[in-house]
Formats: sequence, structure tokens, C-alpha cells
Amino acid sequence: MPFRIAVIPGDGIGPEVIAQGRRVLEAVTRATGTSLDFVTYDLGAERYLRTREILPDSVFGELQAADAIYLGAIGDPRVQNPQYAAGLLLRLRFELDLWVNLRPSRLLAPGLTPLRDAGSIDLVVVRENTEGAYVGIGGQFKRGTPDEIAIQEDVNTRKGVERIIHYAFELAVRRRAAGHRGRVTMVDKSNALYHAHDLWQRVFALERQAAPDIEAEHLFVDAAAMQLVKEPSRFDVIVTSNMFGDILSDLASELVGGLGQAPSANLNPDNRRGLFEPVHGSAPKHAGKGIANPFGAILAGAMMLRHLGDEMGAGQIEKAVMSAAEERLTTRDLGGTLTTAAAADAVLERLERIGSSRPR
Ligand code: NAD
Ligand code: IPM
Ligand code: MN
Repeated sequence: MPFRIAVIPGDGIGPEVIAQGRRVLEAVTRATGTSLDFVTYDLGAERYLRTREILPDSVFGELQAADAIYLGAIGDPRVQNPQYAAGLLLRLRFELDLWVNLRPSRLLAPGLTPLRDAGSIDLVVVRENTEGAYVGIGGQFKRGTPDEIAIQEDVNTRKGVERIIHYAFELAVRRRAAGHRGRVTMVDKSNALYHAHDLWQRVFALERQAAPDIEAEHLFVDAAAMQLVKEPSRFDVIVTSNMFGDILSDLASELVGGLGQAPSANLNPDNRRGLFEPVHGSAPKHAGKGIANPFGAILAGAMMLRHLGDEMGAGQIEKAVMSAAEERLTTRDLGGTLTTAAAADAVLERLERIGSSRPR
């Protein structure tokens, strides 16, 4: 049975990078034998402007039934409705209960970091993906008047905090077995947010006690941002709340070359649902010019293959992207001169070589 992949190209550069990601997925799975059946969904700003629909329930049902979702980006300057991203991307994360947002940052090639002295950077941000300040609880009172009040609640549940911190420790165990340092850094702001993040502190204390072999440390989010720039090689697994994870993952992406190459996976490890997307957004100013970096989308495709059990295909894509990056066969953001499609061509050529040198 083929895997059913729901594709949401979305807005701005989303369709351009997803088209290249699909070419790479099609090529690699021809070689590995994984069967993918892509179904493309017309969701995004164009549909919204045409019909005022963000995500009809019938479409949501189909997305829910897919084996994985592959998404480009959501966001368009013509759509001013503040509920737009919440009604599409955040709805999928929340209602499919994709509680882990995995955002790896790995230096693909020396010289891609803007840091003077970076050492090796190979870390993963484990972002809580279903709670925090993102849940939309709050309101406005006396809107537009000098006495206006705006409240946005930061929701942290015992269950939500436990499962994400526990996941981070399990990931550190798996990463250590694969030759990484295996260290968990829990990032919060418990010195100021002493209700919500005290819960994170207490859960972290219990989880580290239960995993005495794993190195564990705590940093406040301001210090974590500073340490990421000062000594990124100290980090392995960073676990944090929804909003801090959003911010720190953009920062970490930039340390290894920029948003254009950063992939992510939104996962529910309990029922194996997953949504795979680049970390970047729709970058409207780059849309339609053929200059967007496809590597984030391509590497998100690799994360999707790994999730579906095709470790060989995932590894081959990662190797091919690294090789193209080393030779600067990349778009301009990574120091190359190529178009979106030509950067993907470089990956495809390398995949072919890797495939033909593989022992059969
Ligand atoms: P963005 O990630 O779209 O772009 C920020 C900058 O990063 C760009 O101007 C560009 O310089 C660079 N960049 C990003 N992706 C690139 C790529 N593939 N190749 C080359 N350079 C790239 O962030 P933004 O400008 O803050 O947001 C634009 C829109 O996207 C907004 O509507 C925002 O809400 C939305 N957004 C969506 C997602 C998502 O769908 N997951 C993520 C972030 C932002
Ligand atoms: C991301 C994006 C989203 C987020 C926005 C578009 C709501 O920035 O996927 O990182 O904050 O999660
Ligand atoms: Mn973001």
C-alpha cells in the first residue's frame, strides 16, 4: 500500500520549494522502493481570497486520514485576517495533536555559519507545539480606546509539559546511541513566569531524576539565546515552550546558514501522525522569482521519509544536500548562484551518484 501524502503548497515561496521537494522525494523513493501517493490540496491565500474558506471541515477530515502532510508555507500580505494562520497551520498542529515540533540545526558545510568560531553545530530544538501562548485564549476589552485591555493567556498543562520533556530525554538517549552528546537543555523563564514555568521546573526535575545517565541542564531563555551565539556546540537537545521554541529555532537556523535550509517535523508520537514543513515562512518578497532556497523543504521531505520508515531514503537526501552545500551548489542565501530548481538539480545529481554507488 502506498503512503498517502497530503501536500499543501500554500503561499508565497511555499509552492516553489515544495515542487522541488517532491522531485527529490520522487527520485529517492524510486530507488528505495517506498511508494508515495501525493494528493495536493488547494488551501492558502488564493482560496481564502476566492471563497473566504481557510480550512473546510471536509478537507480537514481528509488531511487527518493521510499518512503524512507535506506543507510549504502559510502567509500572504493580502490576507489581513489575524485568524488565518491560526485557522490553517495552528489548527492542524492543535487538532491533530502534533505535540512535538522537531527543528534540527546542523551545519551542512563549514563556512555557512555567520559565527567567527562555531565549532560543530548539530542540535535539535524540541518545541512544545500544542499549548503555551498559542492556544488563543484571551480577549480584548474597550478595543481601540485609550483604556484598551488585551489578554493572551499562556497555557501550560501538566500532561503537555510532561510529554514534551519526557520526549526530549528519550530523544537524547537515541541521539547518544547515534554518537551525539546526549544532553538535554530545558529552556524556560521561570524567574519571571513563576507560575507557568515553575511547572516546567518541577517536571524537568522529575524527568532528569528518571534519566540519570543523560546530562541535563537548565537555562533561562535570555541566557539560552546568548549561549546559542556564544557556544552553539554545547547544545544537543533543547526542549522549550511553544513561543520560545519558535524564536530559538529561527536563531539556531541562522547559525547554520539561514532559514532557507531549516526543516521541521510536527509529530504525534502516540498515533504516528506527522506534518513536515520547512521552518521558514512564505517570504513574500522572494516569491515568484525562482530564488528561494529549496533545501529546507527538501530536508523536511527527508524527515517525512524517516518518519514513514525509509531511513535509507532520508539518509541519502541528507547526504546529497550536504554535498551540494559543501560545493556551494546552492541558492544565493547559502552563498551560491543557483535558482531554486537548479539547487534541487544539484541534489538530484548527487542522489543519483549515491544511489549508483550503493551496494545492491
Ligand atoms: P519568512 O521565514 O517567510 O522570511 C524571513 C526571511 O528569511 C525572508 O525575507 C528571507 O530573507 C529569508 N528566507 C526565508 N525562507 C527562505 C528561503 N527558502 N530561501 C531564501 N531565503 C529565505 O518570515 P516572515 O517574513 O516573518 O514571514 C512571512 C510570512 O510567512 C508571514 O505571513 C508569516 O506569518 C508567515 N510564516 C509562515 C510560516 C509557516 O507557514 N510555517 C513560518 C514562518 C512565517
Ligand atoms: C512557524 C511560524 C508559525 C509559528 C506562525 C506562522 C504562526 O512562525 O512555524 O515557526 O509561530 O509557529
Ligand atoms: Mn516561526
